[in-house]
Amino acid sequence: MDIDVSLSCEGVDWKAVSDTLKSVNMAFYEPEIHRKAFEASHTTVFAYHESKLIGFGRAISDGTYQAAIYDCAVREEFQGKGIGKIIMNSLLSELSHCNIVLYASPGKEGFYQSLGFRKMKTGMAYFQKNDVMRRLGFIE
Ligand SMILES: CC(C)(COP(=O)(O)OP(=O)(O)OC[C@H]1O[C@@H](n2cnc3c(N)ncnc32)[C@H](O)[C@@H]1OP(=O)(O)O)[C@@H](O)C(=O)NCCC(=O)NCCS
Repeated sequence: MDIDVSLSCEGVDWKAVSDTLKSVNMAFYEPEIHRKAFEASHTTVFAYHESKLIGFGRAISDGTYQAAIYDCAVREEFQGKGIGKIIMNSLLSELSHCNIVLYASPGKEGFYQSLGFRKMKTGMAYFQKNDVMRRLGFIE
């Protein structure tokens, strides 16, 4: 399958970003909110098949030694074909000098483990909606 990878937010269909996140049960907002978040990120990656946005991810970072990855998602019909790996490896290569943290959706830990990530023993999170995140299995 031909996949084109872009690091640019130029021309991105932000409604497709919102719709994709919704369809894979991740937090989603109005398209304009995603545009702001991606454009304010240090690194963004978008995967296209035949000009259609099929996956993406982003990292916030100081650009020097710390980074955090968010919103890594692949449209359901394109999952399991190596596209998530392409997106993550593109992010990692842009952040090759950084320590990188993320929190996996419950059940997706193995995906990140296959890329070299390891579970943190002391990870702590302060979520806006702690009760929701507890119910979803992200925190104790
Ligand atoms: C998680 C996600 C991004 C992975 O993308 P993908 O394109 O389906 O994954 P890939 O095909 O690139 O898989 C890469 C490797 O991870 C493994 N993998 C993928 N999902 C996995 C899972 N849930 N558990 C264990 N391993 C997994 C694959 O077997 C593959 O291993 P290999 O390199 O040894 O062949 C994608 O399934 C997705 O968008 N899911 C819904 C949204 C989500 O939960 N995102 C994560 C938020 S933290």
